[in-house]
Amino acid sequence: MTDRGTWGSRFGFVLAAAGSAVGLGNIWGFPTQVGQGGGAAFVLLYLACIVFICFPILIAELALGRRTQTDPVGAFRAVQPNSRWWMAGAIFVAAGVGILSFYAVIAGWTLAYIWFAATGAAGSSAEEIGAFFTEFTSSGPVNLFLTFVIMAVTGGVLLGGVRSGIERMTKLMMPMLIGLLLILAARAVTLPGAAEGLAYYLRPDFSRVFDIGTVNAALGQAFFSLSLGMGTMLVYGSYLTRREGIAKAALMVVGLDTAIALLAGFIIFPSGFSIPGFDPSASGPGLIFVVLPRLFATLPGGSLFGAAFFILLTMAALTSAVSLLEVPVAHCIDAHGWPRRKAVIVMTLGTFCLAAPSALANGASRFFSALPVVGMDFQTLMITMWNNFALPIGGFLTAVFVGYVWRIDKALEELLAEQAWFPGRQLWGVLIRYACPFAIVVILVYTVLSMIG
Ligand code: PHE
Repeated sequence: MTDRGTWGSRFGFVLAAAGSAVGLGNIWGFPTQVGQGGGAAFVLLYLACIVFICFPILIAELALGRRTQTDPVGAFRAVQPNSRWWMAGAIFVAAGVGILSFYAVIAGWTLAYIWFAATGAAGSSAEEIGAFFTEFTSSGPVNLFLTFVIMAVTGGVLLGGVRSGIERMTKLMMPMLIGLLLILAARAVTLPGAAEGLAYYLRPDFSRVFDIGTVNAALGQAFFSLSLGMGTMLVYGSYLTRREGIAKAALMVVGLDTAIALLAGFIIFPSGFSIPGFDPSASGPGLIFVVLPRLFATLPGGSLFGAAFFILLTMAALTSAVSLLEVPVAHCIDAHGWPRRKAVIVMTLGTFCLAAPSALANGASRFFSALPVVGMDFQTLMITMWNNFALPIGGFLTAVFVGYVWRIDKALEELLAEQAWFPGRQLWGVLIRYACPFAIVVILVYTVLSMIG
């Protein structure tokens, strides 16, 4: 009867969730963090965090969302009314706005680079490209304008009640993105100097594995990349029907997200090391914007590849931005009864205001780096605060809530509905109740101690 409809809804969720997960976190964030974290050591820690901490929590968050069918604050309330658990949901809502406030700025850069790549404006020698990036990101008004464009599009998409639009966009974009990444990786690993880059990316320096700063960064990056620990997956899970197996859907999302991040590393490090004197930790958030234009310059038809790449990256960033804004918007609608229009407009403008310092900070970083207590620029402050702390704390609260308040047997009832596939369910219960909360607390406590010590 409704064959096509059924098919659409079955893959619709995986597409929407993958659209949220795959974004700047994979292609901009992951290589940048690998560069700061000393290469393969970071990769190893990242994979461990994904498998043992984030994957189980993703399943928990999706189950909670599907069970309660509401926004994060409402979800905690629905399971445990008359308690303070709703505050966990409130952290989620705040994290959505906070993360989007720097995410939109970086998405603005990728938007501009469509044009720069097409026209070759960024230059062709490594020095030119680096200088171009610095100059471009120092221009406050331009960055503010680009951020505004990204926020306007994100808000516009959400106004239109867009789930089907996002699904369609993701379905088209994801295969093209993967195809293009594969071509670029094939080119990158055959460049002179690529072997050195591959060794950096794949051969761990074990002294870095025990560096608590690196562990914390890997944990934050894993949460961030999976859109986890702040309610996006909870809200998307609330759109799931009981016919879809959660564990299977989660596995597909984790697999796709991790594969795309790893692939990005296979592009950035070999091509980076083909540039004489390259230092992966030196360029910070500019890493991909400095390395990629060089790579495009070595390809026949490079400006075309470059433009196509940044178009796809901007689209991937938009599907993630939409999912970030969806959390506060869903909250205003579900908890405060606002009309969707009002919720979207207020949240879009609010996020834009919070994003302004991030957009301007690159130009005026002297103001922000000089802030006495913080001692880091505004964007770094945002990333540390939200990715490295708020998301793992959100994941911790989700694990504790599902493990001890909602309880594993109730959660399993939801997860196994309609005979869903879920091997390793016992192990999952153990990870959620013990391993995940414990690991997160240990990592965060050590990180705080090392920061103040
Ligand atoms: N996962 C997205 C990315 O990798 C970012 C994101 C984080 C989206 C948290 C939603 C929630 O780009």
